This record gives sequence, C-alpha cells and structure tokens, in this order.
Amino acid sequence: MKIRIPATSANLGPGFDSCGIALSQYLNIEVLENTKEWKIIHSLGSDIPTDATNLLIQTALKLAPDLSPKVLKMTSDIPLARGLGSSSSVIVGGIELANRLGNLNLSQKDKVQIATEIEGHPDNIAPAICGDFVVASYVDGEVHSVKHHFPMCDVIAYIPDVHLLTSESRSVLPTSIPYKEAVQASSIANVMIAAILNGNLPLAGLMMEKDRWHEAYRKKLVPHLDEIRALSHKIGAYGAFLSGAGPTVLILSPEEKTDQMVQELEKLPQSATINVLSIDKEGI
Ligand code: HSE
Repeated sequence: MKIRIPATSANLGPGFDSCGIALSQYLNIEVLENTKEWKIIHSLGSDIPTDATNLLIQTALKLAPDLSPKVLKMTSDIPLARGLGSSSSVIVGGIELANRLGNLNLSQKDKVQIATEIEGHPDNIAPAICGDFVVASYVDGEVHSVKHHFPMCDVIAYIPDVHLLTSESRSVLPTSIPYKEAVQASSIANVMIAAILNGNLPLAGLMMEKDRWHEAYRKKLVPHLDEIRALSHKIGAYGAFLSGAGPTVLILSPEEKTDQMVQELEKLPQSATINVLSIDKEGI
C-alpha cells in the first residue's frame, strides 16, 4: 500500500490561516511488511525518528490504537521547516495510514477536521488532503472548507538553506490588530480569493502582496522577501509572497516569464534551492 501527500503553501499572503494550495513535491509512504515493532526506513536525516515516536506513527495510533506494527518506507522531497507543509504532510500521512490499515472509512471532511484539530489551523492540512486551492475556516471547533480550481501558472519556490520553525515565525505576530486594519486585511483577502475564482491572476497576485496580517511582522525573519518581490515586478510575474510561515518565498509566474525569473533568483547572494513547481490537483 502506498500513500502520497503533496507539499502545501499556506496563506497566499492575505489568506492567513485560511487559504492554501497543494504543490507538486511529495511525501511518499509505503507499507512494506508486518513486524513486531513499528519501524520506518528513511534517509531523511538522523533527527527524524525511525520508531513509534515518529509523528507519522503517533498520529496513526491516535486514531487506530490497535493497528499492528508494520515496516514502513518513507521518502520525501518536501524540505523541512521551510514553509512548505512538511509537518502537515506527516500528520495527513498518519491519518491516511490509520484510515486505510484500520478500515476507518473516514470521509475527506473527517480527515480535514481531525488533521486540523492536531495542527491547529487548516491552511496546509486542507489542500494536502483535497489538492488544488482550498479556503477553510476553523471556528468554534469546526472546519468548513471549499476546494476550487487554481488558475494555470508556474509556481517558483525560492527555498533558502535555513530552517524557520512555524512556532518562531508565529511568535513575532501581534496578539491583536486595530479594527480598521482588520477590516482592510479582510477586504484584501476577499478580493484575492474572488480574483482566483475568476481566473484573474494579475489581480490575485496584486492582492497577495498587500497582506496586513503577518508578512510585515515576519519581515525581519525573511529579509529576502522584498528583494524577490522587486525582481518579480521587474520581470512581470503575477506576485511573490511568503510561503506559510517562511522562509520560502513563492512566485506565481506566467510560463513564458519563468526562465527569466529563475535566472534572476539564481543571482541572489543567499544560498537557496529554486524549484519550479505546479499545483497538485488531487491531494491524497
Ligand atoms: N498559517 C500558518 C502561519 C502556516 O503562517 O503561521 C504555517 O504553518
């Protein structure tokens, strides 16, 4: 049995804790055989447990405590702690593992609800499960989400060679913002979503760069954002924004501008990986 979970990018600028897209990089889990103790074979680094303390198995056992131990193989090209949903992919993988091995018959809605309760916000979880573009709210303990087609474009991921934990990137956010500012921030997000639904990427990209919820507070942790945004304007990409909690920056680009955009990004002094991705339409 094989499970494949896409990387995700949360927020899309103003859709803080609410909007996300699924991307064409993946965590792959394969169930190999029965055994006495849970075991994960991987080459993802010595920090990632290979036994039942791994978040994948912990999550699966939370849902289905009686699962019999297996040997699993795990591979992933989703970089850790870069704002591309690596921990969500593991949580979603654990839920799907329990669902299939334990015959839980969970619906997509069930999976989104359970995974969000674990993660605390739905913006990586929901697109990882559903694929494509998802808008979700998590209010009064219940998740409501809508999946919609994201317009065709290239998604360039500028992934700096540094880790940034979500907890650190959330710790710099304010505990409240003035009412008037919240109204503006909400209107920007609303127009961004409406523009995506209309297939209007130039307008969506413009709104993605006007976030008022989080990017300004996180700037000190992601000094490269402004520079990349300036390059994106020069070349004529649709927009550049922080992917989730950072430090990755995503640039939405018309296909014909992508090569030039990548060449410019390669000239930046910071050590980084640059990947040209597409939207994953399927989820798990
Ligand atoms: N919405 C979350 C944040 C995504 O920006 O903190 C990262 O997990």
